[in-house]
Amino acid sequence: MSAAAPFHVVDLIRKKRDGHALDAREIDFLVAGASNGSIPVEQLAAWLMAAWIRGLTLDETCALAMAMRDSGEKFNPSRLGKVAVDKHSTGGVGDKTSFLVAPLAAACGVAVPMISGRALGHTGGTLDKLESIPGYRTALSLDEFEAVLKRCGASIVGQTPALVPADRVLYALRDRTGTVENPGLIGASILSKKLAAGLDALVLDVKTGSGSFLRKLEDAEYLAALMVATAEGAGTSTVALMTDMSQPLGRAAGNWIELVEAVELLRGVRPQESEDLRELSLQLAGWMVHLGGKAPTPQAGYALAEAALTDGSALAIFFKMVDAHGGDTSIFDDPAGFHKPGATHVLEAWESGYIAEMDTTAVGMAVQRLGAGRAKAGTPVDPHAGILFDARRGARVEKGQPMATLYATSPAQLREPIATLKQAIRFSQSPPEPVPLVSSIFTRESAEEYLREK
Ligand code: URA
Repeated sequence: MSAAAPFHVVDLIRKKRDGHALDAREIDFLVAGASNGSIPVEQLAAWLMAAWIRGLTLDETCALAMAMRDSGEKFNPSRLGKVAVDKHSTGGVGDKTSFLVAPLAAACGVAVPMISGRALGHTGGTLDKLESIPGYRTALSLDEFEAVLKRCGASIVGQTPALVPADRVLYALRDRTGTVENPGLIGASILSKKLAAGLDALVLDVKTGSGSFLRKLEDAEYLAALMVATAEGAGTSTVALMTDMSQPLGRAAGNWIELVEAVELLRGVRPQESEDLRELSLQLAGWMVHLGGKAPTPQAGYALAEAALTDGSALAIFFKMVDAHGGDTSIFDDPAGFHKPGATHVLEAWESGYIAEMDTTAVGMAVQRLGAGRAKAGTPVDPHAGILFDARRGARVEKGQPMATLYATSPAQLREPIATLKQAIRFSQSPPEPVPLVSSIFTRESAEEYLREK
C-alpha cells in the first residue's frame, strides 16, 4: 500500500470473496484504480468475479454506480433548453430500438443525449452498429455532443476516455472474464453512463427470457427495481419496462442489417417480422415523451411518437443526427448495395412445424461468431455479418422453407454458427403460447415496494 492508498486491494478482494459488502469508500477506491490504471487488471478481475459470485447489495450497487458516474467528466444538459430523456436496454439480440426511440422522442420535443455501449457477451452493441455507417463518429467531445444535440435533438455517442472511464475499463474486463450477468454489475454499469449524461428522466428496457443476461425472471425484476430506485434516488425520474427477449427483436441481428431494419420502419415500411420492434419502440418512446413532460400519459406519448413515425419527422432527425456525426447518409439510398458480406448461407427448415422456442443467447453467440462481435477487446467487428430471419417464433414452416440467412466474414466462419442456430431452434406440432412483449412496468413506487419485500 502506498502512503496515499487507504486500502490494500487484496483485502477488498478477500472481503468480497468471503461474502461481505464493501462500503462506499472501498468501492470508490477500486473504481478510481480502474480508471487511472493504478490497480492491475488481474486484481480488478478477481474483485469482479467475487462480486459476481457473491452479488452486490443495494448500497454497493448505488456506490458503484455513483463512483463510476463520477470517474470522469459529466454532461450538463441544462444548456440545451429542453428536458433531457433517454432509454437504455439491459442488452439483447437484434435490439435496435435506440435508432428508433432517439429520433422519435426528439421529434416530440425532448432532448435525447444517449451514451451507449459496444457488443457485450452474446449481445450486440449500439456503437458497433452505428459504426457500420462510413464516417459515423461515436467518440465526440462533450462540446461536440452538445452541439449535435442542439442541432438535432438526439445524439448517440460512446464513452470517451473522459466520460465514465471506469465503466469503460470494467465493461471490457467483464466481457473477457465471464462476469457480465449479474444484476448489481449490470445495474451500476448502465446507471453510471445514464447519470453521467445528467438526465432528467430515464426509461429502462429490462429484457427477460432466453436472450437476456438474467434468465431468471426474479433476477431481471430485481435489476429493474434496483435501477429504478437508484436512479430515482439520484434525482432522475425513471421507469423500467420488462420486455420479451425469448427471440431476437425484429428480424435482423448483426450490425448494418439492424440499421437497415430500423430505417425501413422509420420510412414507414411495416414488415410483419418487424412489428414487435415497431411496437416496443413506440411504447418506449411514449414513456420518454410522457416523463419528459410532453404528454399527460404514456399512451398520449405513444400517439405523439406514432405521429412522428408516420409523418417522417423522426426519419429526418435520424438522418440529421447521422450527418452531424460525420456519417454518410447516402448509403441508405441503396442499403442492399452497401451490404457486402464475405459469405452467405440460407438456412432451410429441417422439419415441418411451428417455431416453438429459440435459445436466444445461442442465437446471439452465433451472430457474434459470424463476425458481428469480437473475441478480443479492441478488435474490429464486421459490419456486414449477422442473421436475417424470415420466420420467427410462432411461425409455421415447411421442411425446406428458408428460415434465415446467415452473413459471415468468411466461408469458414459459417460452419459453427449454422450448427449453433440449428441447435437453438425447437419445433412443435402446435402453435406455442404467445409471450407478451411488455410483461410489467416498474415505477418508483412499485420498485420501492418490490425491494422492501425482498
Ligand atoms: N449494458 C450496459 O451498459 N452494461 C451492462 O453491464 C450490460 C448492459
